[in-house]
Amino acid sequence: MAIGGAAPAVGIGYRAAIDRWTRESLHCFDALEITVDHCLASSRTLRSAIFDLVGRIPLTAHGVGLSLGTDAPLDLAYLDRVAGVVERLRAPAYSEHLAFTRVPGRETAALLPLPKTEEVAESIIAKVRTVQSRVPVPFLLENITYVFEWPDSKMSDAEFLNLICQETGAGLLLDVENVYLNATNHGFDPYAFIDALRPGLVKEVHMAGGVTIRDESLAKPLLADSHSHPVPDAALDLLEYTLARQTPSVIILERDDRLEAGDEILDDVARIRARVAAAQSKDTHGEALVGAAG
Ligand SMILES: [Fe+2]
Repeated sequence: MAIGGAAPAVGIGYRAAIDRWTRESLHCFDALEITVDHCLASSRTLRSAIFDLVGRIPLTAHGVGLSLGTDAPLDLAYLDRVAGVVERLRAPAYSEHLAFTRVPGRETAALLPLPKTEEVAESIIAKVRTVQSRVPVPFLLENITYVFEWPDSKMSDAEFLNLICQETGAGLLLDVENVYLNATNHGFDPYAFIDALRPGLVKEVHMAGGVTIRDESLAKPLLADSHSHPVPDAALDLLEYTLARQTPSVIILERDDRLEAGDEILDDVARIRARVAAAQSKDTHGEALVGAAG
């Protein structure tokens, strides 16, 4: 199944640590997501391993190094290098986080949230337009998970995303796990978040599973986005709900820890595929009922 078929392609994020296993299991996936930064900064061996996948399986491109939310001009040389990698991967889209990872002069080593205000949205809109002018494939923004909210935020997550995407034409890489985590940690309705997204906005999806942190210093247990464990059923429920409303072209399972548990990864892929099938059968059944009634 290619990216952009009738049903979403299902695959995983490529990780060098399981390169051999991934190649041996390639028939289990419809697509792989490549982190473009791994093609920029890594060893020649890793770059060769990644580019060797071109033509074997559809690849999509994801970035972690842009730091859209930093209050400074974008690094245009970085963007041009990203554009070269995206072209070489033959990726149909390029995604980045709606977040900042650095302040001028310092890397934070974390994805940090932005204040959701009109002023910040305007700044991001201008930067997204710059990205779109330099990287010649559709640009997608990804919603992040966060442990704190800026007190001056005026918009909901969905309002902020809708505004930026509407003004720029950018799509959304919806991280369903992040919606589930944020909703649980911050006490909002994840289904209302999905309902609030404009139809057609979601172009790609991320799924993952994390751990629950229990600590005396926390008011309640905190769900962490550790990409280390099976996808929780509650996140799969939210995925199925999303698929009844949006038509992403690819769903990527993100796994960054306990990578040796290949059976768990394949099981998660199967569980995601089962939810895709369930959403499609409901859709077909719904259409049949409408047809019969009409
Ligand atoms: Fe993600």
